[in-house]
Amino acid sequence: MSLEDLYQDVILEHYRSPRHKGRLARPTVSQRGDNPLCGDELELDLAVEDGRIRQVGFEARGCSISVASASMMASLVLGRTLGEAEGLVARFKAMLREGREDPELGDAQALVGVHRFPVRVKCATLAWTTLEAATAALEEAAGRGGPAEG
Ligand code: FES
Repeated sequence: MSLEDLYQDVILEHYRSPRHKGRLARPTVSQRGDNPLCGDELELDLAVEDGRIRQVGFEARGCSISVASASMMASLVLGRTLGEAEGLVARFKAMLREGREDPELGDAQALVGVHRFPVRVKCATLAWTTLEAATAALEEAAGRGGPAEG
């Protein structure tokens, strides 16, 4: 099996059985993201305690790459601090820009091939830009001293 086939299998597996699918009962922040080009949507919930992501949940309506990517992102950031999560978003974007694998990204590494298909880059990044917006909203709310709704 080639590496490309292996990656294809990882993507399909996350699409068919997304990890952390479902909204949280008591999120610290809820963030909506969409891809206006195709109408795909994502609702992301994070429960954050002491600056660390304790729970993550999402509902996604979209193509296989956008749903798989949300599942991979959710698995990767669970248990991380907000700063670590932001660092992973930057690494993921760099991987898609440069087309170079990054072992720090876990299963999300399987999306490296999207680099060659510019129209799909937006599909792959939707979950990650939504996460970025959620952490930004939380940081802004912390600055104001209250919880955030996105
Ligand atoms: Fe809409 Fe992929 S086609 S996110």
